[in-house]
Amino acid sequence: MLKMENVTYIYEDKTVALKDVSINLSKGLKIGIVGSNGAGKSTLFMNFLGLFKPSKGTVIYKGSHLKYDRTSLNELRRDVGIVLQDPDKQIFFSNVYDDIAFALRNLKFDETEIRERVEMAMKITNTDALREKPVHFLSYGQKKNVSIAGAVAMDYKIIFFDEPTAGLDFVSKENVKKILDKLVCDKNKSIVISSHDMNFIYENCDYIYILNNGQVLSEGEVQTVFLKKEILDRASLEEPFLVKAHKYLGKNLYRTEKELFNS
Ligand SMILES: Nc1ncnc2c1ncn2[C@@H]1O[C@H](COP(=O)(O)OP(=O)(O)OP(=O)(O)O)[C@@H](O)[C@H]1O
Ligand SMILES: [Mg+2]
Repeated sequence: MLKMENVTYIYEDKTVALKDVSINLSKGLKIGIVGSNGAGKSTLFMNFLGLFKPSKGTVIYKGSHLKYDRTSLNELRRDVGIVLQDPDKQIFFSNVYDDIAFALRNLKFDETEIRERVEMAMKITNTDALREKPVHFLSYGQKKNVSIAGAVAMDYKIIFFDEPTAGLDFVSKENVKKILDKLVCDKNKSIVISSHDMNFIYENCDYIYILNNGQVLSEGEVQTVFLKKEILDRASLEEPFLVKAHKYLGKNLYRTEKELFNS
């Protein structure tokens, strides 16, 4: 439904952040975008959301070249949303319930529908107990969940997660993982995750793109691409733990730690 072909993106100061990038988000339900700092991941997301317009190349949405007039962008943004890395950029100094309802109220949904959607989003993200709490009193991990709930309530078909686990402890990371699973398995969403955490990407994505200096260095199923050590080295990325266990300890290539330890 959403892809880009040969996209180059050049910032005003002439930084070439993406070079001839082609990415098809139909390749998996959980797509990982990996690459070191400055590789172009966030810039890529902004291009997919129509917030940035490619300097060259095209974003293709439902089979047509994306147009950048208000109506076309509004249509795209009914289907496609983002959870930003920094939850403080996505919350609005109200209580949790109103925060999650914010965008729906802006779009003039009726309050009954808003209530249903917000309740559903709070359930999926385990934020119902926080509903009355002012958002600015929440811990970082709780804010993250609320910012995810905001996107869940919008019922997007595709949700981009920019560094969803950055700054989270082990338990909060596991919670994010459960939320992502629910979105894909129970709610039929497609998700696109950028992360520096190769273990998280390995365990949670089915297809990945490796970005390096604004270019796609490699793409494919996680269990294939993560075995290519020379590509990971070129992109300055670490081998996931389960790949190391496979290559250096002769274990099968398991998808989760649990599978390895139960083997
Ligand atoms: N507003 C901007 N103006 C000029 N250059 C920018 C701007 N934003 C980002 N860049 C540059 O574009 C390149 C890609 O940056 P981007 O933020 O997309 O990388 P990233 O992969 O998301 O990195 P990180 O992992 O650190 O979040 C970098 O060289 C960065 O310096
Ligand atoms: Mg980034």
